[in-house]
Amino acid sequence: MAARINTSLHNALFLLNPFNTPLNTKPFTCRNRFRFSKKLPFYSQSSSGKRALYCTSSSQESGVDGGETFVLTTPLYYVNAPPHMGSAYTTIAADSIARFQRLLGKKVIFITGTDEHGEKIATSAAANGRNPAEHCDLISQSYRTLWKDLDIAYDKFIRTTDPKHEAIVKEFYTRVFANGDIYRADYEGLYCVNCEEYKDEKELLENNCCPVHQAPCVARKEDNYFFALSKYQKPLEDILAQNPRFVQPSYRLNEVQSWIKSGLRDFSISRALVDWGIPVPDDDKQTIYVWFDALLGYISALTEDNKQQNLETAVSLGWPASLHLIGKDILRFHAVYWPAMLMSAGLNLPKMVFGHGFLTKDGMKMGKSLGNTLEPFELVQKFGPDAVRYFFLREVEFGNDGDYSEDRFIKIVNAHLANTIGNLLNRTLGLLKKNCESTLVVDSTIAAEGVPLKDTVEKLVGKARTNYKNLSLSSACEAVLEIGNAGNTYMDQRAPWFLFKQGGVSAEEAAKDLVIILEVMRVIAVALSPVAPCLSLRIYSQLGYSVDQFNSITWSDTKWGGLKEGQVMEQASPVFARIELNPEKEEEENKPKVGKKTGKAKVKVVEQTPTVAEA
Ligand code: MSP
Repeated sequence: MAARINTSLHNALFLLNPFNTPLNTKPFTCRNRFRFSKKLPFYSQSSSGKRALYCTSSSQESGVDGGETFVLTTPLYYVNAPPHMGSAYTTIAADSIARFQRLLGKKVIFITGTDEHGEKIATSAAANGRNPAEHCDLISQSYRTLWKDLDIAYDKFIRTTDPKHEAIVKEFYTRVFANGDIYRADYEGLYCVNCEEYKDEKELLENNCCPVHQAPCVARKEDNYFFALSKYQKPLEDILAQNPRFVQPSYRLNEVQSWIKSGLRDFSISRALVDWGIPVPDDDKQTIYVWFDALLGYISALTEDNKQQNLETAVSLGWPASLHLIGKDILRFHAVYWPAMLMSAGLNLPKMVFGHGFLTKDGMKMGKSLGNTLEPFELVQKFGPDAVRYFFLREVEFGNDGDYSEDRFIKIVNAHLANTIGNLLNRTLGLLKKNCESTLVVDSTIAAEGVPLKDTVEKLVGKARTNYKNLSLSSACEAVLEIGNAGNTYMDQRAPWFLFKQGGVSAEEAAKDLVIILEVMRVIAVALSPVAPCLSLRIYSQLGYSVDQFNSITWSDTKWGGLKEGQVMEQASPVFARIELNPEKEEEENKPKVGKKTGKAKVKVVEQTPTVAEA
């Protein structure tokens, strides 16, 4: 037994998936106010069969996974209620990371899905007058719909009620049992149904209230099967000591280490009172605890329909994951329970667990159980996916909590996407049309000879890359926006509209300036594409590229010099609609403020007015 654990530990963090996974091509349709009619394979993929060892990157780019295959996961969302903005947040972040890794030429397997068993789901199905299966179908579908609306390009969507998942869970349970890590005992404790977790009394608030859900826990006594977590205390301590980057951001590692240090207690992995779950092998009077079941979705998701559905096959298709992206409330499950379960089953551990912060409303975690959620469907419908994706990734430092306010949302997306980026493109294309028949007069490389802006852009692109790699998504957005700021400064300093009026050599210089600014826009489009894919596509299209060309960009296209002499640009049209506050709201905003403002701002989306005033 000891030898077995040691072997799996030795392998756990350092080995990559030893098998090849097939290339993934994503059908991509732009869902936005601005539509493109074609459905195309999404990103071109590296077909290299090479493998690399765990995280060999330089200290500056100490990001996740140095290998050729990048497997990342979101949590599998509970289907007690439709998604809210908090659930969408993890998935938006994951999608941006997946898109960035694809740009680097990685073979990406992006896994998401829904967690459909357990008491919480059964109760919410009953409360809605549905049978659990019907309820799960409905809510699981609403997640898929939202992911579509938000341009989430996942590769695998796993439902824990899928028979292929059930087969994997049973096999895994049997392995752990055979390893001597499951035993039967009585348990008495306080249970939070919303967390689906027994709680320690010392972590509870007054009246035994769960601190996350602010609802009282219920006393339970059950005869259950237990997982021998305590056996893994030392192995877990060793893993974290040797691989401190396993838990990210680094400040979450301390929390995990102190849980482990305070002593790991075996936990119950079955439920006698819950029918809605996977039956325990050889004891159909009990069902498997929903967390023990759901975590395995990360592995069962790798299986392919109509192929052999066993653990070994699933693992061979991409395990271990490079990155589990989760909210900080479920860190213990991912950084303590899950690695111990995997060790028990003799499987490799994921390479990194990143616990991000919460979207809050009035300082409280936004959540289905608390009922203080922000409606993502409404938000996307109102503002489009690019604005929603950009705002949350730019505004909330990834890892920390962040509060939402509609005013702030409108200010940020208008200033960054409509003004800094959208207007710059619009103004430049307007000038190019008027003075150069929308055609580039020279290659962008030649135009930028001796121009410091090119170096500035290259530095900022490097910064964006490092930040994406390190999962510092807000800083990545910031670096891209700085490119836009540099482009605007260049435009204002050079004042090409004035140079055109002077004619002669000045007009020739002005024509070069436009090439330079449009090259800046092209670089922005590539570098922003992980975060705002539709906006990037619209920019690329206006620069005269086809959708196919956009779909085959890689990060190397951020290198200066893509635009060539003779390239014909499209007609200028706003790539990002500026959001206007409605007149009532504006009037209210301009009134002297007495006391606290109440009520929700109504907004309408209007087309951005092209500002080619200088032309
Ligand atoms: N079903 C489990 C996960 C199982 S993974 C094998 C679960 N589901 S959940 O729907 O309750 O939460 C899913 C994720 O959404 C968690 O990472 C959680 O942190 C995240 N969020 C839920 N509300 C959130 C915010 N208000 N803000 C940010 N993320 C939040 O837990």
